[in-house]
Amino acid sequence: MNIPFLSFNNQNNLVEKEIRAAFERVFQSKWYILGEELADFEKAYAQYNEVQHCIGVANGLDALHIALRTLEIGKADEVIVPSNTYIASWLAISQTGATIVPVEPNPQTFNIDPDRIEAAITQKTKVIMPVHLYGQACQMDAIMKIAGKHNLFVIEDNAQAQGCTYNGKLTGSFGHINATSFYPTKNLGAYGDAGALTTSDAGLAQKANLLRNYGSEKKYYNEVIGINSRLDELQAAFLSVKLKYMTGWVDERRKIAAAYDQHLAGICGLILPTTAPKATHVYHLYVIRTDKRDALEKYLNSMGIGTGIHYPVPAHLQKAYQYLGYRDGDFPIAEKMAGTCLSLPLNPGITEQEITYICKMTRKFYEKGFNN
Ligand SMILES: Cc1ncc(COP(=O)(O)O)c(C=O)c1O
Repeated sequence: MNIPFLSFNNQNNLVEKEIRAAFERVFQSKWYILGEELADFEKAYAQYNEVQHCIGVANGLDALHIALRTLEIGKADEVIVPSNTYIASWLAISQTGATIVPVEPNPQTFNIDPDRIEAAITQKTKVIMPVHLYGQACQMDAIMKIAGKHNLFVIEDNAQAQGCTYNGKLTGSFGHINATSFYPTKNLGAYGDAGALTTSDAGLAQKANLLRNYGSEKKYYNEVIGINSRLDELQAAFLSVKLKYMTGWVDERRKIAAAYDQHLAGICGLILPTTAPKATHVYHLYVIRTDKRDALEKYLNSMGIGTGIHYPVPAHLQKAYQYLGYRDGDFPIAEKMAGTCLSLPLNPGITEQEITYICKMTRKFYEKGFNN
């Protein structure tokens, strides 16, 4: 068998006709930036995310950066962020000049541990940035409570968790202003780079709107030093097509994850993903953990099964962050996650037979003692 880690085949086949029609519509409209397609998508995504406003931008990193700029975060401020996340969450903070304050995750959920947040708060703390990693909601009740108590802003990094809920409320609707990514591999993926901010605060929405468009509302009149980060008409039109399928795709991801859970249960030495009480999971990734990660990955790859590692080097040990002076051992939980996590294929359209094969090969790896 040959099972790629990533495949767009199934989704593309499903939407191909509509995507081609959307392309044709935008092409013929002769209006490519900040037009009706974007306005329609922003309205639809705000509705989907149950917020008042959505502001489409060029990518998820820009969405995080604009969220921070909207809240006027700068050099004097500190931002609390998970030690275990994709580096974009850190990079957005770096772009503002603010200080990154990493907080370790709960190893069961991979997400920021609310019990560790208060110890990281100082006079300079302005923002908590929870990241719903791999598609599981963070403990948002606890996080919002801490933020309220200390008068802090919350920016959710919802890049991996569109459609996810905590206690029945959608992620991306808790924070003051939130960011998401429509990178092609995301649960809602564009055909290129794309991202968005979500908020129910009209003032923040208006500020983010300015920032993404050169700081300008009226052409050639600039109110603030903005950037150029606009979600273009083509990507907006494509995303509007795909958004209609999201509920079905999330259901399918959950079914695939449930099949993995069932077939991989009880393997000694293999830790399966767990979902915390009140949280849901939309399985952007199905991430297992094992001390034999590298050997298991090699074995699965040799059996024709594609895998991924999200992420092999924690942000504090990246060369880019060497200047912060962190060393091995400073964030042991994030380091442990990086050394033991392995993502299995989870593409809508993956067959029962393929899932069974992946699980059989994983079990075989342990039973035959390949892990020695
Ligand atoms: C958690 C997280 N935050 C932010 C981003 C940044 O998104 P983008 O690649 O669209 O800039 C990503 C994805 O790439 C991500 O996974």
